[in-house]
Amino acid sequence: MTLQSTDFGTRVPAYLDRLAQALDRRLPPATEDPARLHEAMRYACDGGKRLRALLVYAAGEALAVPVDKLDAPACAVELIHAYSLVHDDLPAMDDDDLRRGRPTVHKAYDEAIGILVGDGLQTQAFSVLADEPSLGAAQRLRMVSILARASGSLGMVGGQAVDIASEGRRISLEELQSLHARKTGALILASLQMAAAAADAAPATEQALETYGRHIGLAFQIQDDVLDETASTETLGKTAGKDLAQHKSTYPSLLGLDGARERATRLFEEARTVVGALPGGAAPLCWLADFIEGRKN
Ligand code: IPE
Ligand code: IPE
Ligand code: MG
Ligand code: MG
Ligand code: MG
Repeated sequence: MTLQSTDFGTRVPAYLDRLAQALDRRLPPATEDPARLHEAMRYACDGGKRLRALLVYAAGEALAVPVDKLDAPACAVELIHAYSLVHDDLPAMDDDDLRRGRPTVHKAYDEAIGILVGDGLQTQAFSVLADEPSLGAAQRLRMVSILARASGSLGMVGGQAVDIASEGRRISLEELQSLHARKTGALILASLQMAAAAADAAPATEQALETYGRHIGLAFQIQDDVLDETASTETLGKTAGKDLAQHKSTYPSLLGLDGARERATRLFEEARTVVGALPGGAAPLCWLADFIEGRKN
C-alpha cells in the first residue's frame, strides 16, 4: 500500500458519516404516512459495510469529482442494494431470518411490508438520481440509465432469477460466473460507472474502471460464497451455511474452498493492476480492493 492509498482509509469514516446523512435526507421521514412502511425502509437501510457507496466515493476521488456530486449515486446504489437484500431474504427467495445482525425485514415487520419496502427503496433510488441538483441533466440521465440496467432483468434481478433456477443443479463454471456477474457484479460495476459519469470521464478511463469493477464484483461474490461456508453466523450477521443447505451453485462447490480463494486473490490482483494507469491515480481504488480482499463479513 502506498502512503497515498493509506490516506483513503483515513477518510473512510468521514465518507460513511456523509453517506449516513445523505441517506437520511433522501429517505422519507419515519413519521410520514404510511409510517410503518417508511420506518421499515429506514430499518432496511441501516448497517451494512457500504462498499458500493465507498466504490463511488473512491472512484470519484480518483477522478477528482467534487464530493457533493457523489452523494446521490452513492445513496442510489445503496438503496438498490438494500432493496435487493430485503427481497433476497423473503421466504420465496432465500428465506432468511437474519440480516446485518438483526431480524430480516419480513421477520421484524411482515412479508407484505418486505415486498413493499423493496419496491419503495427501488423507486426512491431513481428519484434520488433524477432530483439531484448538483448534477447536470445529462449526468443524471446517464446515471439513471446505468443503475436501471444494472438493477433489472439484465443485471441483478436477472442474476437472482438464475440463482434460484440453479438451486439443486450443477451448473458450469462459465454459467456460475455469468450468474455472479449479474446478481452481484452488476451493482458493483454500476457504482464505478456512475462515478465515471459524474467525472465525464474519457472512454479509456471508464474502461479501466469497468474492468476493475468486473474483477472486484466477481471476487466479492466468490468471497461471499467462501464466507458462507467458513465464517460464523455471528461474524457474518446473516445465517452461515445457507448455500449448502439450499443446494446453491457456488464457487466453492465447483472449485473447492482453496480453488475459490485462489480465484478471488487473482481477481483482486488484476483489479489493482488495471487501475494503476488511471490519470488521477489509483490509490483510493487500490486501498478499497485491499480492504474488500481482507473482509471478514
Ligand atoms: C451481501 O452484500 C449480498 C451480496 C451481494 C453478496 P454485502 O456483503 O455488501 O452486504 P452489506 O451491505 O454489507 O450488508
Ligand atoms: C444475493 O446473494 C445477491 C443479491 C442480489 C442480494 P446471496 O443470497 O448470496 O446474498 P446473501 O449471502 O444472502 O447476503
Ligand atoms: Mg440469494
Ligand atoms: Mg441470500
Ligand atoms: Mg451469500
